[in-house]
Amino acid sequence: MTPLYEGKAKRMWATENPDTLRMEFKNDATAFNGEKKASFENKGRLNNAISTLIYGMLEKEGVPTHFVRQIDETNVEVKKVDILMVEVIVRNYSAGSFCKRTGMEEGRKFSQPIVEFSYKSDELGDPLINDDYIREMGLASPEDMAHLRKSALKVNAILTDFFARCGLKLIDFKLEFGRLASNPEVIVLADEISPDGCRLWDLKTGEKMDKDRFRRDLGNVMEAYEEVLGRVKENLA
Ligand code: ADP
Ligand code: TMP
Ligand code: ASP
Repeated sequence: MTPLYEGKAKRMWATENPDTLRMEFKNDATAFNGEKKASFENKGRLNNAISTLIYGMLEKEGVPTHFVRQIDETNVEVKKVDILMVEVIVRNYSAGSFCKRTGMEEGRKFSQPIVEFSYKSDELGDPLINDDYIREMGLASPEDMAHLRKSALKVNAILTDFFARCGLKLIDFKLEFGRLASNPEVIVLADEISPDGCRLWDLKTGEKMDKDRFRRDLGNVMEAYEEVLGRVKENLA
């Protein structure tokens, strides 16, 4: 069997149901647009477990997502979507490319969350774009963009509050959305939510508990993911 798609961190497989896919979390990690590569034992399991719990919580809070069910430790069944080629990033504190672009020091709290968009293109390195680019590139309509912004801010409010209960500061994160293959009028949250695509800092110590540990060679990458999973489980119970 061959996957329908093999990405940097996941594989997508067909299922017997034409409207769903099996999403397999791999142990591979990449950074800087795939320039830096590694593999971590248990990464697939940890991200699947964290993402599954978070998607369950978001669904309960009324956020429509692609999530159907967890199949096993490294696989979930998801509704098949046509992914919008726009990545939605929400920032609560300065970090990462925001600091690079502006020269601002890391860790400054914003007065309001920043929502930004990037063009999902590995070749171009996911460049920053804005609503006008998105309209002219035909990536999404202004109405769709209003919906993405509103959904991203709702997800931010839910996750900020939830991670605070876990003793974690939600610095920033990336979301992907897609149109249901079974009903293209409906846009749902897709892909994953895990320490690969979020920055999470320990509230007390400020320690980084996310993929920056890999990006910056800080060590104990999976120990941090394991700790995040433990806290997520504890606070959902
Ligand atoms: P990348 O493509 O960036 O290397 P991944 O390794 O995470 O990323 O691969 C997963 C791919 O599947 C991504 O391109 C993502 O946009 C896409 N995807 C996520 N959820 C769904 C879904 N429900 N239906 C179809 N595609 C999806
Ligand atoms: P950035 O500061 O590098 O732009 O990243 C912002 C957030 O988005 C951070 O939590 C990591 C996440 N992210 C991804 O999930 N995928 C990506 O390709 C990039 C660049 C960032
Ligand atoms: N996800 C991107 C990559 O795999 C960038 C990153 O997360 O740092 O290269």
